[in-house]
Amino acid sequence: MNRVEQGKALAPVVVGTTAALYLSYKILYSLLYKTNTYIKEIPVPSPAYPYVGHMFSLGDMPAEKVSEWHKELGPIIKFRMGVQTWVSIDSPELAHKVMVTNGSKTSHRTENGFLFEMYSFGGKGVVHAQPNASWKKVRAAVSAAIAPSQIELYMDSIRHQAKKLVDTLIDTSDKNKGGIFPFKDLQLYVMNTVTSIAFGRTFSTKDDPTFIEVSGTIDEGFKLSGVDYDLANFLPVFTFFDYFKGARKILSRHLTERRDPVFGNLIKEAHHADGPNLVKYLKENGYELSEKETLVVFSDLTSAGTDTNSVYLCWTIAIMCNHLEVQLKIAAEIDDFIARNGRLPLYSERLELPFCISAMKECMRYKPITTFGIPHFSIEEIEVDGYIIPKGVTIISNMMSMHKNSEFYRDRPDEFAPERFMNALETTDAASKGKVEDRDHFNFGWGRRICPAIHMAEVETFIGFVELMSRCFIEPGEDGMPKIDKAENGGLTIIPSPYKVKFTKRKN
Ligand code: HEM
Repeated sequence: MNRVEQGKALAPVVVGTTAALYLSYKILYSLLYKTNTYIKEIPVPSPAYPYVGHMFSLGDMPAEKVSEWHKELGPIIKFRMGVQTWVSIDSPELAHKVMVTNGSKTSHRTENGFLFEMYSFGGKGVVHAQPNASWKKVRAAVSAAIAPSQIELYMDSIRHQAKKLVDTLIDTSDKNKGGIFPFKDLQLYVMNTVTSIAFGRTFSTKDDPTFIEVSGTIDEGFKLSGVDYDLANFLPVFTFFDYFKGARKILSRHLTERRDPVFGNLIKEAHHADGPNLVKYLKENGYELSEKETLVVFSDLTSAGTDTNSVYLCWTIAIMCNHLEVQLKIAAEIDDFIARNGRLPLYSERLELPFCISAMKECMRYKPITTFGIPHFSIEEIEVDGYIIPKGVTIISNMMSMHKNSEFYRDRPDEFAPERFMNALETTDAASKGKVEDRDHFNFGWGRRICPAIHMAEVETFIGFVELMSRCFIEPGEDGMPKIDKAENGGLTIIPSPYKVKFTKRKN
């Protein structure tokens, strides 16, 4: 028999064996599934309404509702957002297995109407791009531009900005005896680091018209990223109403009349600016990005780098005001360093302020910055710990209940415990690259999509916070203590409800 004849003779055997194997697999799968011995159903909260599913049950603070569902149903739940299925996880170990161990199948983004189709022109840039060759290239360039060796070049400028921030906070506090809400000052401080790296420019005050326009565009973009403006994406029947409501028009106007000209101008000016910047670096190093790609990359960077760090510092100030004993302990640690060295510590000397580092990490655990991180999307079915996560679902980490998970944070998970990380002082950047059990918190996300700017965020917040604690105490303003159990839905972020505090100069 030649090989073709052999093949023909074997064909029925191969087909038969394959069919038998497939049938056994299907029987076993359905048996296991039905008898619940191995495969576990992902719990679904009730009630779910026809067509809309759970969408309108989420209320004004989706993170709180989803936390309630986790408390009732466990570490993984599934709910329907109109025609989309979302899987939420609040166990760090499970989230790690889903988004890191199975990262090749769970690192896509959901192709939503506003963020994917409109904001990122069908997935250009970094944040909302699918993990393809172009994303890899751009992410690598951005990561190189904000690598520790590059950030080192900006240390003097960050320290200078931190000094200016604290001068302004003390000054405006002096003039406004009832206290001030520092959010815009904090935004100016952190945005200046991003814009000096990206465009080689900074803004001198929060009244600078370009700063007002850039920060206003970012705030508006975050707001428009919420579900309300993208109903047609979840509920296609809304396409009809959408036409009348004009949601698409609002989104499109935001992009064409604000986002595109604002970032277009910053990019144009950066090409001719003195000194180095990322716009020039990309051009000079052969990254051939189209005009639209460039626009999205720089809008991604500026937005991702501004409202995250400023929300963190805004929470930290509110928490400190509520805990004078913690401020005193941090101030004593800084004073001790100054007495020995005659100056403030550098970032590279952070371990000399162990309590300060631990308290800063605890602030981020206690009050997470984002609601759900940035959602991931599964491109294949996966099985993790007996749960089947289907192909084509949006995967989120519920930051609020994940950071209070009593199996991960065994010691007083619901309380603010500034000494919690005294034995885990390595940088969050380093911890996030290690084993899940050694991570301090999960605010920066997961796996191949993890925030590429953790080092930059840690440097900026450390320098700003230490400058602040070395020069003032934070005291309640005329409305009393900032209410840290109250928060507002900032779309992607969870922001503190506006409060008033006084920055009182310390007598050193
Ligand atoms: C406290 C500060 C920050 C927090 C909490 C934060 C959080 C996050 C999170 C949760 C993600 C998504 C991770 C995932 O999909 O699993 C992300 C992605 C990203 N972040 Fe940050 N971030 C911060 C600061 C920054 C800064 C300062 C920049 C840049 C200047 C930045 C740039 C980015 C970019 C470009 C991505 C997209 C990465 C990708 O999709 O591949 N972030 N960040």
